Formats: sequence, structure tokens, C-alpha cells
Amino acid sequence: MDRRKFIARTTLTTAGIAITGIIPSKGGQANTKPSDTINIALIGCRNMGFGILQHHLSNEGVNCVAMCDIDDAVLNEKAAEVKKKFNQTPKLYKDFRKLLEQKDIDAVIIGTPDHWHCLIMVYALQAGKDVYCEKPMANTIEECNTMVKAASYYNKQVVQIGQQQRSGFIFQKAMELIKNDKIGKLRKVNIWANFEYGVGQKIVPDEPVPAGVDFDMWLGPAPARSFNKTRFHGSWRMFWDYGGGLFSDWGVHLIDMGLWAKDITTPPKKVLVYGGNTYHEPRSRETFDSISVIYPNDDFVINFDVTAGVQKGPYDMPYGLAFIGDNATLVADRSKLILYPEWDSQAKKARTEEYKYTDGKESHGEHVRNFLDCIKTRNKPACPPETGRAAALHVHIPNIAARSGESMLLWDDSKNRFTNSEKANQLITPNYRQPWTLPSF
Ligand SMILES: NC(=O)c1ccc[n+]([C@@H]2O[C@H](COP(=O)([O-])OP(=O)(O)OC[C@H]3O[C@@H](n4cnc5c(N)ncnc54)[C@H](O)[C@@H]3O)[C@@H](O)[C@H]2O)c1
Repeated sequence: MDRRKFIARTTLTTAGIAITGIIPSKGGQANTKPSDTINIALIGCRNMGFGILQHHLSNEGVNCVAMCDIDDAVLNEKAAEVKKKFNQTPKLYKDFRKLLEQKDIDAVIIGTPDHWHCLIMVYALQAGKDVYCEKPMANTIEECNTMVKAASYYNKQVVQIGQQQRSGFIFQKAMELIKNDKIGKLRKVNIWANFEYGVGQKIVPDEPVPAGVDFDMWLGPAPARSFNKTRFHGSWRMFWDYGGGLFSDWGVHLIDMGLWAKDITTPPKKVLVYGGNTYHEPRSRETFDSISVIYPNDDFVINFDVTAGVQKGPYDMPYGLAFIGDNATLVADRSKLILYPEWDSQAKKARTEEYKYTDGKESHGEHVRNFLDCIKTRNKPACPPETGRAAALHVHIPNIAARSGESMLLWDDSKNRFTNSEKANQLITPNYRQPWTLPSF
């Protein structure tokens, strides 16, 4: 069937948005306008989304024209804060499809839980908006694939994934040191993330949906179930239908730096994995509290170790990366970068110079500025969807291994399949709940 007719047959909702699962039409006007002012909308307002909105509004000429949340309490509280801090009065919505009909919106921030990212991003692109989508890019491999294809289909629009370390000084400097041979040949990256919150909350019974919450719209494409506050705001991360646990939450940020160091832009071909629960008591959680992953390559290896329920780690850091080279180990987190030179016992001197920087800050502001610049220039942002996908698949694949009881998985990216586990193949594509369907391109 010719593409034009195919698109014309797409069923549209009132918002002009396809929910049929076939190629969405190029419904919106590709966004090329913004010059002096940029009109932003926020979908998913509670925590990170609101933080990212505030970073946008701290820039000259950026307006918040719309906000959407399925929880009235969150929406009203955050809208009041926008009024107080920035003297702006956005239109408020409970259904993001209605928000996307608002014509003056140039770009949307997606600050919802991970299971919503894919659909909202596709619909926003279809409506002609640029997109800042929080990480991990999506909750499954197939949703990540769909988002990469969507961004390429709507290729006039700018898509930034919220892996903000790409835009900050610390990791840019780390990459400069590594790529300018300051640590010698990079042989290994050790990564760790130990956080108490990763064990989930104390178990409590289900309860009625709180007033003002559209829980069906919170669940969206995820399976229907009764309300439990330990699976809702913030703590949804510990349940497979919505997130990938501490490992995916911190994992995408940290693995992204390991991949950047070697300019790796593809998913892992092989992973060796332990995933299990070693914490002393049951908690409200499905994801694993302990994960150890090896990503082997011929002459380079990444080790990733996650322990929830504790906050101590190597170099007295709860999370971090150690880039191990022949001449030095470079240790980094978001606040510091320390290079520990190796000692050359023959020459009786260090193999390289010391380096230390300890004044690093969170880099959300820089990442947002990069997005705003790209909205104006139409250039590719610091973290495009391909980069988001590579990082996301590096956490989804080990999670799938652990969930399928496989200690080793082999991934064939060209076939979008695991070659050694049918059980694992069942977890590539989410089973969307009607009426939601995963768009295909
Ligand atoms: N880049 C970072 O450093 C960073 C840090 C924290 C969180 N995050 C990411 O940000 C995202 C949000 O995390 P959070 O901690 O803010 O979660 P949260 O649960 O605190 O907030 C999510 C908000 O989205 C709303 N929501 C859910 N479904 C919606 C829908 N269909 N339409 C509109 N609103 C909807 C919820 O009601 C809630 O207010 C996640 O993807 C998370 O991984 C990124």
C-alpha cells in the first residue's frame, strides 16, 4: 500500500492522535519557529519533570504555557509554584492528548514514569512538538526502538533524552582526559550504584484511589490493577510494569558514561548477570535489590555492581565510575573527578600527572540549555534517542536476563532477538492494555 494512503487510513482521536498502532501521520507542523521565545509544556509534574521545567524557566524568553498531570493535587501545587516563582499561568490539563492540541506549544517535557515515555513522545512528535524526554528513554527494548524510529520519521523535530551528565563539565572533562590518552589504554570501567531507596517501601495493603487521581490514566498502557501507594508516585520504579529498579534508574546515567568513553552507540552483544534479592526483609518491590553485570568485549570490559538498601561504596562514594587505564585510574561522580596515576617502578616516577576537580554540580541546567539551543538552531542535541537507546538497552538486557533466570544472554541487534533464550524474547515487547497500542513505523 502506498505510504500516503496508509497514513490516510490511520484512525485518529479528537486530538488528531493515532491510537491504532500503525504509522502515525505527520499530523503536526514541524517546529522550526522559535527564535526569541520558546513555549514549553510539562507532562508529569511531580518531581523530576518539575525540576526540569524550572531549569527551562530560568532561561530568558522561555514560557510555561501548559502543564498536565493525572493527579489534581500535584498539578495544582506545581502550577501555584510556577505562578509564584515565575509569574506565569499555564493552562492545566489532566489528559496529555488535550494538551498536545494546544497550538502555541513549541516543546514538551516528559516527566512521567518510564512506562509512559514512548507513547507520549510519539504523540508529541506527531503533534509537531520538540521533546525533552526523561531517562530511561523507555521501559522496554521495543519501546526504545519505536522512539528511535519515531524521532527519525519526524526528523525535523528535536529530541533530547534526559541523560544530563552528557552536558556537564565533570564528564566532559573525564572524556577529554580519557580520549587524550591521560590514563593510557582504557581497559576496564567499574561502575557501582548503592542506594537505600532501591529496596522499595514497607509493604502496605491496597487502598481506594485517592481523590483527584485519574489512576487509569496513570496506569495507561500498563496492566490494570488496584491502587497501592507503594507502587505509585516515586516508588513505581521498583515494579517491572513501570520501571526497572535502582539498576535502570541510576544505571542508564552511569553506563552512558562507560559507553561514551569508548564511543559505543550500540547495545551489548553479550551480558553475564547475577540478579537477586539479598536484603534482610521483604519489601514492596519486584525489581532486584542486588545486581552484578559484566559486559565483555575483546579488549575492554565494563563491570556494573548494584546494591540497594545501603549507601556505601568504593572510594567512599555511594555511586561512581572508575575508568581503569594502563597509566592511571580516573574516578568520577557528579561532584568530582580524581585521577590516580600508576607508579612506574623502573623509571621511579608516576606514569602520568595527577588531576583533581571536586567542585562539580548537577548538570540538568546545562542539558536543558543544550536543548533550548537546539530548538533554535535545529541542531542535534547532546543526548539524541540513539544514545538514549544504547544506554537503556544496557540496563534492560541484564534486567531481562535476571528476570528470565539466565546468567548469560546473547543479543542480536540486527534481528532484535536474544539468540539463546526464548524466555528472554518474551520480555522485549510490552503487552499494552487497550485502548493503547504501541505505534509501529
Ligand atoms: N535525569 C535525572 O536525573 C532523573 C532523576 C529523577 C527521575 N528521573 C526520571 O523522571 C521521570 C519521572 O520520575 P519522578 O521521580 O519525577 O516520578 P514521580 O512519580 O515523582 O512523578 C511522575 C509524575 O507523572 C505523573 N503522571 C503519571 N502518568 C501521567 C500521565 N499519563 N499524564 C500526566 N502525568 C502523569 C504522576 O502523577 C506524577 O506526578 C522518570 O522517567 C525518572 O526516571 C530522571
